[in-house]
Amino acid sequence: MINTYTDFSLLAYNTFGMDVQAARFMEYDSVEELKEILASFSPDELFLQIGRGSNLLFTGNYPGTLLHSRIRGCEVVREDEEAVWLRVGAGVVWDDMVAYCVGKGWGGAENLSLIPGEVGASAVQNIGAYGVEAKDLITEVGTVEAATRKERSFTSEECAYAYRKSIFKEELKGQYIVTHVTYRLDKCPVFHLDYGNIRAELERQGGEITLQAVRKVIIAIRQSKLPDPAVQGNAGSFFMNPVIERARYEALLEEYPSMPHYVVDEAHVKIPAAWMIERCGWKGRSLGRAGVHDKQALVLVNRGGATGAEVMMLSQAVRQSVKDKFGIDIRPEVNFI
Ligand code: EPU
Repeated sequence: MINTYTDFSLLAYNTFGMDVQAARFMEYDSVEELKEILASFSPDELFLQIGRGSNLLFTGNYPGTLLHSRIRGCEVVREDEEAVWLRVGAGVVWDDMVAYCVGKGWGGAENLSLIPGEVGASAVQNIGAYGVEAKDLITEVGTVEAATRKERSFTSEECAYAYRKSIFKEELKGQYIVTHVTYRLDKCPVFHLDYGNIRAELERQGGEITLQAVRKVIIAIRQSKLPDPAVQGNAGSFFMNPVIERARYEALLEEYPSMPHYVVDEAHVKIPAAWMIERCGWKGRSLGRAGVHDKQALVLVNRGGATGAEVMMLSQAVRQSVKDKFGIDIRPEVNFI
């Protein structure tokens, strides 16, 4: 069924807890209903597909139509000795899918446990954590082209995935609506335990390496560092980790010998923005009702009643400090609406 609401409160649809409204909010259960909605739009309709709003910052009321998918379902569409291919509806809660896979003994998604949001967004945003990205699992993305209402399937290559990036966020932004995502999962799990303290935590818990154990450790690490949006509004990492040239990193290293980094390729390294933000003295500080989380400096939080403008002001101040101190421009990962 298609549901249409006017002057709809977005409090439940943005994890930052912004008290804003959409002029119109529409939910649908199937590809056919999505096409029906798109057919009813005028050529200059202002609209935006959202998931759970876990990566959005509304800077005011949304004057157009927000679309939200309730396309559910999880179906094995292919299987061989090594893997299963699971086709999942865009409206499925991401972590429900991860829990389902872990329960079935299928490996690949466990490091991405507890990431907020829905399956549709995983394919747009290329969500990632603890050494794994959604693109490592995605084989196919089912979409509807908004302008023509034609269905189109994208292979993973066609999605042009990179760090927190896809064709749906860049060249084709706003043109295709994701309806289904197919993930390839391993029947015989390949574990990724070398990021940060995952291995140490596993050992502390008794050392058995199973999908359930990894999921448990990831959840514990996330809960210890990242604020629960139900308690304190936030959108996870507010900034992306900048990729810089190795020569530049080596020069900075002379001044900051403890600067952490991840190797991207021979010529480039990624610097944790959280480390730089902390060195700028922002960790735990506030500007108005917006603040920098005290356990993870990459996360900006709503300390209660903050407006989008306040969060934006804080983000600009943080960005400027990092630029002044390190000469590096950190760019928001969060989408401003
Ligand atoms: N660090 C600090 N200060 C802090 C936090 C971290 O100095 O306040 C340093 C740590 O020493 C560590 C490094 O920064 O060496 C990296 O920290 P962490 O492992 O917490 O990860 P991150 O790079 O800050 C990224 C993702 C997270 C993801 C984690 C774990 C981005 C933008 N963020 O953060 O993703 O959970 O890695 O894989 O890439 C998200 O996108 O919303 C998100 C939470």
